[in-house]
Amino acid sequence: MDATLIRTINRLQDAFSTVGVHNPVDLPQIVVIGSQSSGKSSVLENIVGRDFLPRGSGIVTRRPLVLQLINRPAATSTSEDDKDGKKDGDNEKKEPEEWGEFLHQPGVKYTDFNLIREEIVRDTEAKTGKNAGISPLPINLRIYSPHVLTLTLVDLPGLTKLPVGDQPKDIEKQIRDMIVKYITKPNSIILAVTAANVDLANSDGLRLARDVDPEGARTIGVLTKVDLMDAGTDVVDILAGRVIPLRLGYVPVVNRGQRDIDTKKSIGKSLEGERSFFENHAAYKSKAQYCGTPYLARKLNMILMHHIRNTLPEIKAKIQAALAKYIAELATLGDGMAEGAGQANIVLNIITEFCTEFRTIIDGNSTDLSSF
Ligand code: GDP
Ligand code: NA
Ligand code: MG
Repeated sequence: MDATLIRTINRLQDAFSTVGVHNPVDLPQIVVIGSQSSGKSSVLENIVGRDFLPRGSGIVTRRPLVLQLINRPAATSTSEDDKDGKKDGDNEKKEPEEWGEFLHQPGVKYTDFNLIREEIVRDTEAKTGKNAGISPLPINLRIYSPHVLTLTLVDLPGLTKLPVGDQPKDIEKQIRDMIVKYITKPNSIILAVTAANVDLANSDGLRLARDVDPEGARTIGVLTKVDLMDAGTDVVDILAGRVIPLRLGYVPVVNRGQRDIDTKKSIGKSLEGERSFFENHAAYKSKAQYCGTPYLARKLNMILMHHIRNTLPEIKAKIQAALAKYIAELATLGDGMAEGAGQANIVLNIITEFCTEFRTIIDGNSTDLSSF
């Protein structure tokens, strides 16, 4: 996620907490939907920038994963602390910068993201059995990091048509109901993932998204596996809105293939490969800045920024009302309290300034919301 956006939100949160308002902005949940093996978990991992989800062919994601990212400023150690460090705590453990914690294992901090993946697999099997059963019971995972926005992402089982093994006959409906529950929330952004090597008209994700968001106001189309398309075919018509238009458009991406996962190719290497794929491909090179995971992340950032801007007037009104009440109360207490009222006004000024500045940031950036 974009560092400017993280800083902006943190400043907003700081300004508001001075006047006792916590979490002033309820950021949308980003929900990833699509057919089984279309690349949902891969897209989500690339957005987070960490390698921690089980991925693979077949039904790997069998329970919803509700992933709460929590921004936590990096601990700042002053040079004095460093010098005196040895004095009071010889064996003092350094706080990890980033870690994960499961709701079902409170207090257990995972700093090794491979162990997070193992725990997701273990707990999935514990609650659903090994035989491709699914369950609506979510796995709740929190990731604390200075590099993320405080935001919720949801990874869901993929839409499937035919039951396999001992799956129930109505598995399609079960999964569908599970997904609909998450994407019906008006405060969710739907990432409808479709593999580029299948016909868009058959995209289960897009079809379901359209049911709950007919205007396409909160649906982004993500086209995965662009690298696996037959030579001579491309997704340019889709990107240009000539197949199934979406107001927020489509973003083509190239995730790691199964071999890359087996050989533990890093996210960094994968992003490099993705960039050079689009930059060197005849069909995409002239529009390469609108392709790939970084563009998808920027697009999400812009949507979040707009969301914040749209909620600012409401938040500001609430705060003005709270301050007016506060100032009136102070006035009844007499002259000695004038200073308190002055401070309240200073906070209001900070927030007003912030709102103006924030609009400027957005207006300067909003051009790239329209895609290809
Ligand atoms: P999910 O079932 O929708 O969550 O899909 P996964 O993220 O688990 O991916 C399913 C399989 O497709 C894995 O083997 C991935 O390596 C592979 N995959 C996903 N995206 C891409 C892509 O863009 N290109 C290639 N070549 N393989 C991909
Ligand atoms: Na899969
Ligand atoms: Mg998955």
